[in-house]
Amino acid sequence: MNVLVIGNGGREHALCYGIKQSPNCSNLYCIPGSDAISEIASSIKIEVDDHDAILKYCLESKIDLVVIGPELPLTQGLSNRLINNSILVFGPDQMGAELEKSKKFTKDICKKLNIATAAYDVFENYDDALTFCQNQSYPLVIKADGLAAGKGVIICEKIDDAKDALIKCFKENSFGDAGSVVVIEEFLVGEEVSLFSLVDKNGFVLPLTTAQDHKKILEGEKGLNTGGMGAYTPVPSISSNKMHELSKIFIEPIVQYLAQKGINYQGMFYAGLIVTEEGPNLLEINVRFGDPETQAIIPLLETDLLELLHASATGSLNEIEKIKWKNDYAMTIVMATNGYPEDYKKLTLISNLENLFLRKDDYLFHAGTTLRKHKWLSNGGRVLNISSTGKDLKTIRQNIHKVIDQITWDEGYYRKDIGWRYIDE
Ligand code: AMP
Ligand code: GLY
Repeated sequence: MNVLVIGNGGREHALCYGIKQSPNCSNLYCIPGSDAISEIASSIKIEVDDHDAILKYCLESKIDLVVIGPELPLTQGLSNRLINNSILVFGPDQMGAELEKSKKFTKDICKKLNIATAAYDVFENYDDALTFCQNQSYPLVIKADGLAAGKGVIICEKIDDAKDALIKCFKENSFGDAGSVVVIEEFLVGEEVSLFSLVDKNGFVLPLTTAQDHKKILEGEKGLNTGGMGAYTPVPSISSNKMHELSKIFIEPIVQYLAQKGINYQGMFYAGLIVTEEGPNLLEINVRFGDPETQAIIPLLETDLLELLHASATGSLNEIEKIKWKNDYAMTIVMATNGYPEDYKKLTLISNLENLFLRKDDYLFHAGTTLRKHKWLSNGGRVLNISSTGKDLKTIRQNIHKVIDQITWDEGYYRKDIGWRYIDE
């Protein structure tokens, strides 16, 4: 099979790595790819939003399957464009991607289907939203409706915070169009769990696994929100049976509802849940693999990844036998540039990457690097993902730290407490 992956981050590096392991992968391409991805796939210099060029490339290179990594091309309809031209795609169409693009869209579906989620209201102007916030108890959560790169969710401790958040959305336009509608919801307390299910074009839902991300930049879950600083899989408190049950409650009804509306959802369905004292609630839906969760999930997966992705695109996930895993747990730790998620230096030197000693269960994925004159430089906020698999999270974390200790990078920062919920210090 000729396979094309869309994207250039750590998630796509891991996807390329996983797909490449399949005996059914003949040629692997990545648009736009990266210097690190080029070591395992051909990186093709086409802009991700140039759908005409991507389609032309697929037809010319006889691509059998396109795997779309990030949400943006999905919300821009890349999947529709390719499927309409008889190309198999892993990733939902534009209407399916609305689940991630609009929090209001998802919350309204939850309300209709009686799916547990935080109580909410939707506002389209500053004055009405402020009046509402003046009559609420705190904390309160204010969310830009649209895509805001993980920055559009503001937890407000008091009315002044709410006012600041509303000014950002409505007056300062900090989130552009994404903030022209806001969802204001009740603050929930509990453990967060990410649930990943594969969905095929016939609406068959195959629960894959669970994972736990660490969104805050600082140890002890403090500081600003990021795209994710580390993750592990599966979540020890969620048994396989429980995962299937959660998928039936939170994912299957939404997939069925979309199908009734003529929307054939196919690809990854990533449900962000929070388990409160009253039970699990849906926080958000993402329509793609998580980043960095994928960098932990793929090293652990024994079942052929390409077979799973292809089965989603062709509608044959029901034929997949039990999913197999190589080990009990996996973790990934993100190395970021000092200053991220705010300002940080670019193109800083990372030494030693070529000479790392990796044991057979250790993996290095590049999220934001570039190769200049045979030297690896940082090229983004989240830069490296070091992953490992094993029998227990504590040992896995120690093994990842042993890899990190070999990397000489003055600007590098990572959280040392990934997995704290399940590791006795
Ligand atoms: P979201 O993008 O909607 O998942 O929100 C990002 C993060 O904000 C979540 O992972 C939670 O940590 C937090 N969050 C979002 N909604 C709520 C809520 N209703 N109550 C508590 N925390 C929330
Ligand atoms: N790690 C969070 C996300 O992929 O949205």
